[in-house]
Amino acid sequence: MSGRFITFEGIDGAGKSTHIERVARHLRQGGAELVQTREPGGTPLAESLRELFLHRDMDGLTEALLVFAARRDHVRNVIAPALAQGHTVLCDRFTDASFAYQGGGRGMDWQVLGTLERWVQEGREPDLTFWFDVDPAVAAQRRAQARDADRLEQLDLAFFERVRDAYRRRAEGSPTRFVRIDAGDTIEGVGAQVIAALEQRGW
Ligand code: TMP
Repeated sequence: MSGRFITFEGIDGAGKSTHIERVARHLRQGGAELVQTREPGGTPLAESLRELFLHRDMDGLTEALLVFAARRDHVRNVIAPALAQGHTVLCDRFTDASFAYQGGGRGMDWQVLGTLERWVQEGREPDLTFWFDVDPAVAAQRRAQARDADRLEQLDLAFFERVRDAYRRRAEGSPTRFVRIDAGDTIEGVGAQVIAALEQRGW
């Protein structure tokens, strides 16, 4: 028995958090047992790595090694056991974020990231990935209204354009796994797109 693994991606300020809650409500109403988690994070070790990752300066390779180390702990101790019990796992960001931020944003070699992905995931992949796609200028406005910026959120528009392009490349490489959501739409409009994608799968 294996549960469903659903991930949520997009540049900072795309508005995914609100919709993760909406997906959780929808699936719970359908009787699913849920595990909600996030990356980097999701275990005590990975949450400690998250703090370092978000607040210390480091180069792109160090970033990649840290997020994949956190992911390894998270997959082994939370994600894989939950899926094995038939639970549905909702994860706020996963490996696509490493390709987008460290690959696209920081210019890390895509093949190196692919090797880390294979080592860490051992063949496990999300069943569905929601990509909240929005113009980086719109996302920057939303971030400015919402909260104090962490280390990555302070980066410039060109960085987020590269992150967005890398998400697009990942989506094109896995068209059945990815669902692109137009996150420039209203909250209600985005919610409707998300629920429609679930219903289309009978979830
Ligand atoms: P969050 O604010 O959505 O929790 O994400 C934390 C930050 O970490 C966000 O700016 C994206 C970044 N990130 C990476 O750079 N690489 C990764 O692999 C992950 C999972 C997140």
